[in-house]
Formats: sequence, C-alpha cells, structure tokens
Amino acid sequence: MIKIITIVGARPQFVKSAVLSRKIKEDYSDHIEEIVVHTGQHYDKKMSDVFFSELGIKKPDFTLTTGSGSHAEQTGKIMLGLENFFSNNTADYILVYGDTNSTLAAALVASKQPIPLIHVEAGLRSNRIGMPEEVNRVVTDRLSNILFCSSDLAVKNLKSEGICDNVHIVGDIMYDQFCSQKEKISNKILKKFGLSNKKFILSTIHRAENTDNIVFLRKILNSLDKISVDLKVVIPLHPRTRKIIEKDSNFKLKNICLTNPLSYLEMLELLLNSSLVVTDSGGLQKEAYFANVPCITVRDETEWVELVESGWNILCPPSSCDLIKSVDKMLNIEFDEHPNFYGDGKSADKILSTIINIYENTIRM
Ligand code: UD1
Repeated sequence: MIKIITIVGARPQFVKSAVLSRKIKEDYSDHIEEIVVHTGQHYDKKMSDVFFSELGIKKPDFTLTTGSGSHAEQTGKIMLGLENFFSNNTADYILVYGDTNSTLAAALVASKQPIPLIHVEAGLRSNRIGMPEEVNRVVTDRLSNILFCSSDLAVKNLKSEGICDNVHIVGDIMYDQFCSQKEKISNKILKKFGLSNKKFILSTIHRAENTDNIVFLRKILNSLDKISVDLKVVIPLHPRTRKIIEKDSNFKLKNICLTNPLSYLEMLELLLNSSLVVTDSGGLQKEAYFANVPCITVRDETEWVELVESGWNILCPPSSCDLIKSVDKMLNIEFDEHPNFYGDGKSADKILSTIINIYENTIRM
C-alpha cells in the first residue's frame, strides 16, 4: 500500500484534490491510502467547507489553524504545523497542488523530512518573480521529485530551468472536475439573481497585484460597474476584495451584482451561462475555456499563454488597458476553433497510475 499525504489549504486546491481523492476511493483504494491535511489557509465556510460537502470528498483527516497573515506569517505557521504533524506521521509521498503559500510551506517541510514530493500543476510560469504565486511555483518545482504538468508549455518551462526528470504531462486535473460536474448544475443562482442565459458577464477579482493597488482596483471595478448598466456583471467576492471595498468610500458600485463566494457548482452554473468572463484568477481563465466562454484577464501576463495565443483570452493590464473597450471587442468575436490544450479529462488516472509505477520501480531497485 502506498501512503500519500495530500496537503491542501486554499479554495482552488479543494477543487483539484477532490478529483484525485474521489478517484483513489473509487478505483485505487487497493493500492493507495490517502491522508488529507488542511493547512487552514482558507477557513471561511464559503471558501472551504462547502467544497468538501458539495464535491463529495471526505473531510480532511487533520486541520491546522493557520488563518490569515502576512506571507511570512502564514507560510511560517503552516510550516510549524506541518513539521509538528510529521513528527508523528510519515508517508511514501507528500502531494501538493498549485502555487499557494500552503503549497510552498508543504514543499519546504517535505524536503527536510525528507519525504518525496509530488507537485500537481507543475511548470506554470508568469515569469514575474515579484508575484507571490510565482515564487511559490519556482521553489516547489525545484524541490519536487515527481512533477505533473497540465500542458506542453509547462514541460518546456521546467526544461528551461533544468528540471527534466520525472516530469509527466497528464492533462489538467481541473478539466477532469469540469467534465464530471458539468451535468450536475441547476438554475438556482440564475433565478436568484434574475439572470438569463448568455446575457451577463461573470467576474472575479482577488489577486494581490490588483487588490493591493487601490488605483487599479477602483479602475477595474468602476469600469465593470459602467459595463453593468447594459450587460449585467456578477462578481462573487473573495473576502480579501470585500474587506478592501468596504473600507474605501470611493467605491460607488451601483450596477454590478456582488455576491458572497459561491460553491463550485454554483460557479459552474454561472460560468456555463455567461457570455464573457473577466478575471484575474488563474483557474477561472481555464474553466472559461473548458466552457467555451471567452475571457479577459485583468493582469499584465498569464500562465496560460496558449489561451491568449488561441485568441480565447486577452490580457487587459489595469495599468494600461481600457476594460470597457476590451469587453466590447471580446463580445463581438466569433471563435471558429477550440483546440484541445488540456487533455481528455482523465488526468487523475494518469497521475495515480504513474505514481504506482514509480513506486513499484523504486521498491524493485
Ligand atoms: C490565495 C492564493 C492565490 C489563490 C487564492 C484563491 C497565496 C499566496 N495566494 O490567495 O494564489 O488564487 O488563494 O482564493 O497563497 N480570507 C478570509 N477568509 C478566508 C480566506 C481568506 O477572510 O477563508 C481573507 C483574509 O483577510 C486574508 C485574505 O483573504 O488575509 C487573503 O487570503 P490569503 O490566503 O492570504 O490569500 P488569497 O488572496 O486567498
């Protein structure tokens, strides 16, 4: 039996880990035992618990009480909690997802146990080292023993940093989730907000580079508010963004529809019915593409370069770009092609069978 300790902590990681946890339970329980540790980085019910209940995954076996804080505080607290956890627990592998402070903290602790580290969604790069997530990605990939990439570009990025061993291209785990859940949506959120199919824009804004720059945040949200006079804009608000808006009386948002964070299925319902996505989230850019919805990324760069090259995603940096014009442009484009960048929705199988192969070969050596 292979023992894997999965470490998650932030909203996008619950969505990704749900896929592997379900797969292990359904098809791999003879070979793999999974223990889930929640770092407590995201702790609100709407940012955490709802994903466990809705996506049918077992509750975390252990939860640390990390909560908010500066990067050092949050990363340090998670490291201390995990080090303590590993003084009584061990595993064949530690598995992490993505690029959050929870990912980085777990990678650092794993490397010093040492327990081999598996990184799912390896190789993504924005090539902007000042971005917290970029530091987390670079360090985590450097410390990882097995790296699972979503796209060809991620493999190339790793190669250019000299990381070539045990790099596997498996498709995108979020695409597995999308394929398995898209038939389960209802129309309850559409009804609740009085929205009609393909007659609204779905938006999320929460990246530090936008929320920590009040000029950018005002520019983005005020533009969305104007757009919303003609085409409704719905924004499920991340707590980070909500706190900033509530403190600043210069936000006069009269037309956009602001909601609390939504569950995965509620977001999927909005996404599949929306005419356009405007976001600074990494995951939502890809999900928009899965759902055949064009996307505007309110950032200077994106890790999902293939989406920009295909034309389905355009960048609109808040420092230099007119969001109202970009929205108008994107709403009037017809797309003929929709290349398959992210695999066949079976990346969980590929990840798990690769882990088993590597484990068995290591034992034989
Ligand atoms: C983190 C990730 C980001 C990911 C995002 C998804 C890092 C560096 N960033 O950003 O890559 O896209 O999660 O949501 O790890 N807060 C709450 N309740 C919560 C969680 C957060 O109120 O349940 C508030 C706190 O005030 C906190 C702030 O949001 O200080 C930011 O949270 P944090 O976990 O530091 O980063 P995110 O912005 O969520």
